[in-house]
Amino acid sequence: MSFDLVLFGGTGDLTWRKLMPALFQAFRHGKLPRDGRILAVARDARSDDAYRAFIKERFAEVESAKRPNDEEFARFAALLFYRRMDLSHAEDYAALKAWLDERRADTTVMYLATSPHLFPVVCAQLGQAGLNGPQVRVVLEKPLGHDLASAQEINRVVAGAFSERQALRIDHYLGKPSVQNLSALRFGNALFEPLWRRESIANIQITLAESIGVGTRGDFYDRTGALRDMIQNHALQLLTMIAMEPPSTNDADAIRDEKLKVLKSLKPFTAETVARDVVRGQYKAGTVGGVPVAGYLEETKVPAGSATETFVALRAEVQNWRWAGVPFYLRTGKRLGARSAQITVNFRPVPHPIFPGSSRANKLVIKLQPEDGLELHLLAAKGGRQGEALAPVFLDLDFDKAFAAERVGAYERLLLDAIAGRLNLFVRSDEQEQAWRWVEPVLHAWANDAAAPRPYAAGTWGPPASSAMVARDGCVWDEEQ
Ligand code: BG6
Repeated sequence: MSFDLVLFGGTGDLTWRKLMPALFQAFRHGKLPRDGRILAVARDARSDDAYRAFIKERFAEVESAKRPNDEEFARFAALLFYRRMDLSHAEDYAALKAWLDERRADTTVMYLATSPHLFPVVCAQLGQAGLNGPQVRVVLEKPLGHDLASAQEINRVVAGAFSERQALRIDHYLGKPSVQNLSALRFGNALFEPLWRRESIANIQITLAESIGVGTRGDFYDRTGALRDMIQNHALQLLTMIAMEPPSTNDADAIRDEKLKVLKSLKPFTAETVARDVVRGQYKAGTVGGVPVAGYLEETKVPAGSATETFVALRAEVQNWRWAGVPFYLRTGKRLGARSAQITVNFRPVPHPIFPGSSRANKLVIKLQPEDGLELHLLAAKGGRQGEALAPVFLDLDFDKAFAAERVGAYERLLLDAIAGRLNLFVRSDEQEQAWRWVEPVLHAWANDAAAPRPYAAGTWGPPASSAMVARDGCVWDEEQ
């Protein structure tokens, strides 16, 4: 199969930090279809060779195991081309079309790794230039809008040029191997499904914790905040994968229909429930991994006195027969105690405990990062002098180890899927809009609330109000269990 991949934003951060390393890994592992060309597009003039040299230099910043040696880079570089384009000039799209038409690849992927305000103009121009034929797909990187209206506007313009099946919205969490494993766990095994419901599950926690701060992205982050950056997309996508009904097939739309139903079943927030069930925080100076770090307001490019949240914890409910009354706690933040992304399914305690000290609930922990695996926590008899006292033990499945040779990174997987036209791991416009619809009352409530986000010291697990919120239901966050 032949393909052309056009990278708009070809000199930007996303391209050299994530996309090029992922494409190189796919190339190195022989997974990239053989007959391919990768065309980077950006504003300034440079030759193909100058672009190749630029990418080669940037690879120095990629972790060493994923860096090409000179011979490998030379082979990979033969796929790379560069073109200067002014994204608002129709003639530049006509010239791009001529270049692509030289050989008419089986598939053309237009990857929009640009600032999102350019999506409408690029999509409209691609459509006008006739670069939207059935073999063309367009990939849209987040952030897709900053609220429902702006997301709808982007979707409207995209739909003017591309059908829904041609428009691939990326949420890179869906490309993580452990997230794909969630479907496998639930729908490839009969073991958990009978327990996957309110009768057996007490609560579900989704934690996406980062130990890094906002780094050099202070200006972008300050306009965005943790709710838009992580909850509206990554955390809600994980929630849909956990809570969805079994789809009738493994087809993209069968899956996405079920995910959409979950989003539509989420209990809407009101100003009162935002005050009670959503906690926002902002990090102050502290210590992470033994190193003193600055607070959010001291970071570069963060405006003085900013009220942007770097932490959110919230309590959600899925209002349907399966999940009625089961709290879903979602939490994310920068500069937290550790880099850790995981989902914890806390099962209900036994109805009538007969062993001393055995009231602790069993739990299943789905680990996304830093390790990729599954832990099933059970109680077992120690068989020691303590008589019948039970102790917690856990089964630990390490997928990195079990499938080491097979594992591919999130961007590698999503790029290969985009080229192959597999849509399962991309977000449909109605899912994305529904997610905005659900978070919007929180944005409105915060906009009308003069109170600043709650402070937390860098290196902790967020403001104490986060623990107090779950404690109201008699729960504790995973790291405190
Ligand atoms: C991005 C956010 O979508 O996800 C970043 O914009 C965040 O702020 C990143 O750091 C986290 O991704 P990962 O894969 O490192 O957990």
